[in-house]
Amino acid sequence: MSVQVPVRLGTVQETLLVPLWARARECDEPAPVLTDPTSREILNRLDYDFGPLDGARASQLGCCVRGAQVDRWASQFLERHPEGTVIELGVGLNSRFERVDNGRARWFELDLPDAMELRREFFEDTPQRTMLSGSALDDDWIERVRSETQGPYFIASEGMLVYLDPDEVRRLFTRVADAFPGAMFAYDSMSPLVLRHQRKHDAMRYFTAEFTWSVGDAREVEQWDERYRLKDIRSFYHMLYAHPKRLPAYYRYLGPLLGAVYPPVKRAYHVNLLQLG
Ligand SMILES: C[S@@+](CC[C@H](N)C(=O)[O-])C[C@H]1O[C@@H](n2cnc3c(N)ncnc32)[C@H](O)[C@@H]1O
Repeated sequence: MSVQVPVRLGTVQETLLVPLWARARECDEPAPVLTDPTSREILNRLDYDFGPLDGARASQLGCCVRGAQVDRWASQFLERHPEGTVIELGVGLNSRFERVDNGRARWFELDLPDAMELRREFFEDTPQRTMLSGSALDDDWIERVRSETQGPYFIASEGMLVYLDPDEVRRLFTRVADAFPGAMFAYDSMSPLVLRHQRKHDAMRYFTAEFTWSVGDAREVEQWDERYRLKDIRSFYHMLYAHPKRLPAYYRYLGPLLGAVYPPVKRAYHVNLLQLG
C-alpha cells in the first residue's frame, strides 16, 4: 500500500480539496459530467478527512459542470491551435492536462508554494508541462511564460479569483491583457448575493477561507478594460438544473421556485470566457 500524503495547506489553498473531491466523487456517478480517474487516485492517497463533504451534492455537480465547461473551451482552443499554450492559474490538484491535452500543446500550471508542493507529489514537469510556484499576482509567471512561448494562449482560472480582493482581480486582468494580447481567459464569477450568503454554501461552510470578490454583471470586465470581449457565459443555475435528479430535493424543488420569484438567483454564479483583442 502506498504511503498517505499529508495535507499542509494555508486557508485559501485548502479549498483546492473541494473540486478535487468533486471530480473524484464524480467517478462513481452513473452518468458523470466529467471523467477524471486521476482525481480519484489522488484523493485516495491524501491523508485528509473528506467526510464532512459527503452531503455537498450541489458543490460536487457545480465543480464538475464548471470543470467540464472549461475543458470544452480548452479543447476548442487546442483544436484551433494544437501547439498553443494553456496556462492554469490557481491550478490546485486539477488534472486538466490529463483530460484534454493533445500531446503537442505547452502547459504552465501555477499555484501558491504550499499548494504546488502538494501538487508535485502527484505530477511531474515534462518538456510539455511546467509547474510554477508563486502567486498569480506576481509578474514572475508572466515573464517565464513569455520567455518560453509565443502563444496563442488559453488562460484558465477556476475557483481562484473569488478569493482575491477586487483591486487585485482588476490588476490581474490588466496584467494579463498587457502581457498576452489575443489570449482567451476562462474564469468563474459570483454575484454579491452569493458572497453575502457564503456560509450557507454546502461545501464552503466546512472551510475557513472566505470569498472576497464578486461582480454584479460578468460583462463589467469589458468596461474595466476595452481590450476584453465576453465571448461566452454559462450560468450555474442553468448548468445545475440541466441535471435535476443529481440535486438534493430542496435544491431540486426550491431552486426553480426561487428563480421564478427572485431572478437574481439565476444570475448568482457564472463561468465566463473572455477574448482579448
Ligand atoms: C478552489 S481552489 C481551485 C483549484 C483548481 N483550479 C481546481 O479547480 O481544482 C483555488 C485555488 O487557487 C489557488 N490560489 C489562491 N490565490 C492564489 C494566488 N494569488 N496565486 C495562485 N494561486 C492562488 C489556491 O491555492 C487554490 O489551489
